[in-house]
Amino acid sequence: VIRSVVTGVGSFLPEQVVTNADLTKIVDTSDEWIIERTGIRQRHKARDDEPTSDLALKAAERALADAGKTAADVDLIIVATTTPDQTFPATAAIVQRKLGAPVGIAFDIQAVCSGFVYAMSIADGFVARGQAKCALVIGAEEMTRLMDWTDRTTCVLFGDGAGAFVLEPGEGQGTKDDRGILGFALRCEGAKSDMLYVDGGPATTGTVGHLRMLGNQVFRHAVVNIAEAVTAAAEVAGVDIPEIDWFVPHQANQRIIKGVGDRLGLDEDKVVSTVAMHANTSAASIPLAMDVAIKDGRIKKGDLVLVEAMGGGLTWGACAFRF
Ligand code: ACO
Repeated sequence: VIRSVVTGVGSFLPEQVVTNADLTKIVDTSDEWIIERTGIRQRHKARDDEPTSDLALKAAERALADAGKTAADVDLIIVATTTPDQTFPATAAIVQRKLGAPVGIAFDIQAVCSGFVYAMSIADGFVARGQAKCALVIGAEEMTRLMDWTDRTTCVLFGDGAGAFVLEPGEGQGTKDDRGILGFALRCEGAKSDMLYVDGGPATTGTVGHLRMLGNQVFRHAVVNIAEAVTAAAEVAGVDIPEIDWFVPHQANQRIIKGVGDRLGLDEDKVVSTVAMHANTSAASIPLAMDVAIKDGRIKKGDLVLVEAMGGGLTWGACAFRF
């Protein structure tokens, strides 16, 4: 069987760091509250003249270099983003142009924080059917653009950044020992869209809008449902949860990460957490966290990795792959 193998990983964070202390000058909050409720200590923020496609481009270039590939090899680009540069063209088309990649397939997908897991599953389909030989899957977000900076219940939670995977076809025996994507589970419950949304858009207000969230309702939904999707993805992959080497969750809140890990019975030292440094970067959080744990020597080739995410929609999902 053909497996889509993750052959390169890269990420990029904009230079400016905003600490919790910085936010206390804007809204009525405290470093203690933010750390205790979320685990977040700081987040990165893009410059005004630094669009999402620039973050995506830098992450993509690093992932390609890691895979030993160049822009000329790229035949598929999927950007998972909820903060595109423009309503259209797709940010993926802009990335293709800036990268100097040839004519190929390029489009964005919108599943908010779950976007990267959704994008991986789509890219896997192209690669497994022989329609792509060098796919770039990018999660790139500037969530700070969607913040209502007078709303302390949301503006402290999010940050900007981008991460990318290169996926290439690899031969497998059709077992869990194969390198590559082994299984995923995706979910959306549109009936819960009012819990987390942006109150603007081209076909309603004609404005970009601001992120609105019923945080504690989303929180309640998260742990149980994420754990179910992780279990389902592992089952499709033919993997038992204790076999997982690394759990790389969406980085929204340390309490959710811990809750899901505990529910699944995972050792804490198998769980990768970057939420303290990056905050919630939506679709970028998984590849950003992967990159950190690869660079610091934790995740190695051949390790069994499980990623999961949950976000607006509500969407959620999980993917198991052997790195
Ligand atoms: N600083 C100080 N106090 C605050 C702040 C703040 N930044 N924000 C809220 N508070 C106050 C509230 O006003 C409330 O005060 P009250 O009791 O006087 O009314 C109190 O703190 C408790 O508020 P809760 O909302 O109940 O706090 P909770 O423990 O639920 O934590 C949080 C809030 C961090 C938002 C949590 O609910 C959460 O993380 N939810 C999930 C968010 C998430 O993961 N979203 C997922 C994806 S995001 C995406 O897809 C784009």
